[in-house]
Amino acid sequence: MTLPNALWTLFCFLTLAAPAFSALYTSPSQLPRDTFDYVIVGAGTAGNVVANRLSEVASVTVLVIEAGVTNEGVNASIIPLLGPSLTPNTPFDWNYTTTAQKAYGNRVIPYARGKMLGGSSSVNYMVYTRGSSDDFDAYAAITGDSGWGWENIKKYIPKHERWSAPADQHNTKGQFTPSAHGTDGLLQVSLPGFSTPLDQRIVDTLEEMEEFTFVEDMNSGSTLGIGWAQSSIGGGTRSSSATAYLGPNVMERSNLHVLVKSQVTKLLQTGIRDGIPVFHGLEFITTSEGPRRVTARKEIILSAGSIGTPQILQLSGIGGTSDLMRVGIKTIFNNPSVGQNLSDHPLLANEYSVKGTESYDEIFRSPTILNTNIERWLQNKTGPLASCISNHIGFFRLPDNSTILEGIEDPSSGPKGAHFELIFSNMWATPGIPAPTNGSFLTITTSVISPTSRGSVVLASSDPLEQPLINPNLLSTNFDKLTMRETIKVANRFITASPWKDYLIGPFGELAHATNDLSLDAYIAANAGTFSHPVGSAQMSSKDARYGVTDPDLKVKGVHGLRIIDASVMPFPPSAHPQAPLYLIAERGADLVKSSNTAFSDNPTSEDKNPSLSLTPSYLDLAGTIVAFLFSSLVHY
Ligand SMILES: Cc1cc2nc3c(=O)[nH]c(=O)nc-3n(C[C@H](O)[C@H](O)[C@H](O)COP(=O)(O)OP(=O)(O)OC[C@H]3O[C@@H](n4cnc5c(N)ncnc54)[C@H](O)[C@@H]3O)c2cc1C
Ligand SMILES: *[C@@H]1O[C@H](CO)[C@@H](O)[C@H](O)[C@H]1NC(C)=O
Ligand SMILES: *[C@@H]1O[C@H](CO)[C@@H](O)[C@H](O)[C@H]1NC(C)=O
Ligand SMILES: *[C@@H]1O[C@H](CO)[C@@H](O)[C@H](O)[C@H]1NC(C)=O
Ligand SMILES: *[C@@H]1O[C@H](CO)[C@@H](O)[C@H](O)[C@H]1NC(C)=O
Ligand SMILES: *[C@@H]1O[C@H](CO)[C@@H](O)[C@H](O)[C@H]1NC(C)=O
Ligand SMILES: *[C@@H]1O[C@H](CO)[C@@H](O)[C@H](O)[C@H]1NC(C)=O
Repeated sequence: MTLPNALWTLFCFLTLAAPAFSALYTSPSQLPRDTFDYVIVGAGTAGNVVANRLSEVASVTVLVIEAGVTNEGVNASIIPLLGPSLTPNTPFDWNYTTTAQKAYGNRVIPYARGKMLGGSSSVNYMVYTRGSSDDFDAYAAITGDSGWGWENIKKYIPKHERWSAPADQHNTKGQFTPSAHGTDGLLQVSLPGFSTPLDQRIVDTLEEMEEFTFVEDMNSGSTLGIGWAQSSIGGGTRSSSATAYLGPNVMERSNLHVLVKSQVTKLLQTGIRDGIPVFHGLEFITTSEGPRRVTARKEIILSAGSIGTPQILQLSGIGGTSDLMRVGIKTIFNNPSVGQNLSDHPLLANEYSVKGTESYDEIFRSPTILNTNIERWLQNKTGPLASCISNHIGFFRLPDNSTILEGIEDPSSGPKGAHFELIFSNMWATPGIPAPTNGSFLTITTSVISPTSRGSVVLASSDPLEQPLINPNLLSTNFDKLTMRETIKVANRFITASPWKDYLIGPFGELAHATNDLSLDAYIAANAGTFSHPVGSAQMSSKDARYGVTDPDLKVKGVHGLRIIDASVMPFPPSAHPQAPLYLIAERGADLVKSSNTAFSDNPTSEDKNPSLSLTPSYLDLAGTIVAFLFSSLVHY
């Protein structure tokens, strides 16, 4: 969806009254000290989970450094359906673009990343999907750590999720499975809060066409089928990692310090322990001030996201020597996996013209109608603006006998993992392309959810303010191309069911002319984009793997003092929009930090009574040293 520029400007900049947070600093001069137990880089989706959980223990001090501004009062980050106006190219976006995408006719596309408290969870489209249990079980197999498996990871759901009533308070019986949800956690999740002309037609199509099945709850570990969309919305309002994990009661903690408008430029090596470089310092800048330094007594946790995290590692000399040499950075630890294996979900917004005026299109064409809806939202948080862009989503597998799967290893995570996705929107929803000035639209956005394409993010120069070269390499494999082609055929088939007869006019624009494989491919090349779901650029792997950036405990391999907790550690894209699985990964990540430091336990051991950095390797350090040594001898090729 694209709001006319003048409209979004209005909404982005008008702000609701902002309560002052005690420990929210807008300038480094406000920091009470420059040494903390933990320093978290990036107050994004995962970073705020970690900040919240670590600061639960009053004796542990935590600093979070965020490049963007506060989310407080940013209306478009509060009113759900205005969310898409926050990207791309706004003050709340990093304004990245990709390198020329070969399969996209060498188009360069915007690559949105949230730049504010909450990170991308403050600007995303709020679709909340957990993926399949097979995704997590595959993460466990890849890392050799059963703790990443579904049986263990689902324990974090009650801690994380606060199931909430939809904005319109409708009866939700049969639209979700209560036992799959948490009611006491922090992030609010709800079913659609405003009904659309698509809803009943989709339900009826599922009755009519055998090819399509209903899934009562795609977040139960079994994701296949079409079901009611769940979103990170509560009380008709966006729930982000900032609103949920850094609420006023959390910001009151005197041991938690959050600094905004400060960009980390480099991690600093502070020593060598057992031949392994130790990183306990970092440098950051603000728009008005030169480099400042802070120290983490225990750990630095990188939560800067799938672009920011590998960028910071590389700026600090942790990366592939050839990548670093090219931009004149001295290698401290050679790990060619840093920034590689970037993977993402390609996006194709298939537009169909529909009859009547029930689609949301008119809302975003007419300032008057938009204002009426904003008034309504302000009054009681209801109406179309209280929902996200979709009420129904489907995840699908290719048939087992599909020729697309012939001769290749099934790229899905397992029999419950999906190959592709369909999302139904009651409006024009092509990112970056303004809606036509008349007409009503149904968008069926499709994606390859188990893509085999892999790309990279590497530095363009040693300047930390220059954007890195981002190449998600979308649709660069045959599997991805052929599956994307298949998604359009499936979408076109879906709307041939009788419930659409009185509503559908027909495919719109280039889609109308994409009638054979050749023209479908041309249509894809000209129109595909991205879901902005990059993962894998600093992936976790087993302790003895010859690749990977972190170990299964999310500690950065080959160095001491660094951990990564964000979407970059996911070994491959989940069968899902990644925020929900990421929240669970971040919850466990925070637990891993806690369990590796006795400061968090009720009965500190004698070792813990001296929490300062000890140069004598403890038993654990020694084990880590041996592993790190083995690892570094493997990757120094
Ligand atoms: C437009 C858009 C729509 C999306 N829609 C959905 C959706 O509907 N559903 C879904 O599940 N997922 C969606 N996603 C993806 C999802 O939001 C992300 O996968 C997830 O939020 C990533 O979390 P993260 O913690 O890895 O990174 P982020 O949440 O991006 O956090 C990284 C944080 O680090 C900060 N940072 C980066 N570099 C530095 C630095 N050098 N110094 C200081 N701070 C730094 C950033 O400003 C940011 O706050 C969407 C993403 C976008 C951009
Ligand atoms: C943003 O918030 C302010 C303050 O509450 C309000 O006056 C204004 O109407 C809001 N704008 C939008 C677009 O809701
Ligand atoms: C992104 O673009 C917007 C609009 O041009 C601008 O206001 C903002 O400062 C830019 N942000 C960055 C990080 O460059
Ligand atoms: C990318 O990931 C694959 C496993 O999916 C691994 O075999 C390969 O070594 C990785 N590449 C790099 C450069 O890390
Ligand atoms: C919310 O307010 C609108 C008017 O702005 C009204 O039409 C609607 O019925 C109200 N909804 C509820 C649940 O109160
Ligand atoms: C796959 O099997 C189905 C029925 O089981 C059949 O209708 C279809 O033609 C088969 N497709 C291929 C490519 O063999
Ligand atoms: C918009 O209006 C023009 C002129 O009336 C018409 O030809 C066109 O089909 C309309 N477009 C849509 C999408 O309805």
